[in-house]
Amino acid sequence: MESQVRPRRAFRADAAAAVAGAGAKAAFWTAAGSAVRKIARTEDAPVKLTSDAPPPPKGYLRRVWIEAFEKDAADVAAGLYPLAEKFDGDPAAVWRRTRDLLTDAHEVQRRRVEGAATEARAESTSAYPTYYRQNFHYQSGGWFTQQSARRYEAQVEALFAGATGPMRRRALSLLARAWRDRDQRSLKLVDIACGSGAFLADLKAAFPRAAVMGLDLSSTYLAEARARSGASGVQALAEKLPFADASLDGLTCVYLFHELPPKIRPLVAAEMARVLKPGGVLALADAIQADRAPELARPLAAFPAFFHEPYFESYQATDLVALFAGVGLTLKGRDDAFLTQALLFEK
Ligand SMILES: C[S@@+](CC[C@H](N)C(=O)[O-])C[C@H]1O[C@@H](n2cnc3c(N)ncnc32)[C@H](O)[C@@H]1O
Repeated sequence: MESQVRPRRAFRADAAAAVAGAGAKAAFWTAAGSAVRKIARTEDAPVKLTSDAPPPPKGYLRRVWIEAFEKDAADVAAGLYPLAEKFDGDPAAVWRRTRDLLTDAHEVQRRRVEGAATEARAESTSAYPTYYRQNFHYQSGGWFTQQSARRYEAQVEALFAGATGPMRRRALSLLARAWRDRDQRSLKLVDIACGSGAFLADLKAAFPRAAVMGLDLSSTYLAEARARSGASGVQALAEKLPFADASLDGLTCVYLFHELPPKIRPLVAAEMARVLKPGGVLALADAIQADRAPELARPLAAFPAFFHEPYFESYQATDLVALFAGVGLTLKGRDDAFLTQALLFEK
C-alpha cells in the first residue's frame, strides 16, 4: 500500500516553525490567562473543596505544560503530522480577540458568582437534551450562539496557557502512528463533538486525502468548524450517530466525555463501536483523571464547581478502558500531556 507520510526532512522547517509559533502563542495566552484570572476571582465565588489532597508539587504544572509542547514538536519533527495551527499575531486581531475575551470574562464571572448555569435554556429549544442546555464553563450563550462559537478557542487557550493544540494532538499522535502506512484515500474519519473545529483542522492537515468530517450537536459551533477547517460537518447527537454500521475507519473525540451525564457515556461509546469497521480505531482525548496524575487530585476536585462542569466528578470516577471494552473496543495505546490524556482503541 502506498505510504502517505512525508519524508522526515520535509518536517524540519515545520518543527522549527512549531517551536517559534508555540513560543509566541504560549506567551500571549499565558498573559491573557492571567488577565482572565484577575477577573475570575476565587474570593468572589469560593469553591468548597471535596479533596484533602495536597496542591501539585512546586514546578509540576510548568514541567508538564512544557512537556506537552515538547511532545508536539517531536511528533512534527518525526513526520507524524504537519503543524497546521498558526498564531495570528496581527495586532488588530490580537486586540479584538483580547478585548472580547476580557469583556466577556466579566459576564462569565457574574454567572459563576450567581451560580447561573442554565441561562442557555433561553437560547435553545427543548429539541436539545436537557443536560446539553446549560452554560458549561459558565460561558455566555452555552453551545448555542455564534459569539460563543467564535470565542470558545480563545477561552480554552487562555485557560490552558496556549497548550490546547498540543494537548488535543496527543490523540492525533496516536492515530497518525496507527495509520502511518495506510493509504489515506480509502479512509473515512469523523471527529465526534468537533466543537469550533480547531482539532478538525489538524486532522484535515494530517490526512489531506482522507474523507474527514466533523459532527457536533451545535449548529453555530459546526458553522465555525466548517469555516476554520474546510471540512464538512453534520449536526447530530453523539448518542445517535447518523452513520451505517461498520462504515468508518476512524473516529476522534476530544473533550466530550467529561461533559456527558453518566447514563449517556455508555450510549455514545456503543454508537462509536457500532459505526467503526472491524479494525477501525477511536482516538480519544479528554481531561486527565486523578488516578493517572495524583499530583493533580486537588485542582481536579476544585475544577468542576468553578467552571460549571456538572458531570466532571462522575467522569473522574469512570474507568474509560472498561467503558470501551464493554462495547468491544480494545485499548491499543495511550499518552498524557499536561491536563489531558489520550487513548487509542481498536474494534
Ligand atoms: C468541550 S467542547 C469540545 C469541542 C472540541 N472537540 C474541542 O476540542 O474544542 C464539547 C463539544 O461537544 C458538543 N457536544 C456535547 N454533547 C454532545 C452530544 N450529545 N452530541 C454531539 N455533540 C455534543 C458540544 O456542542 C461542544 O461543541
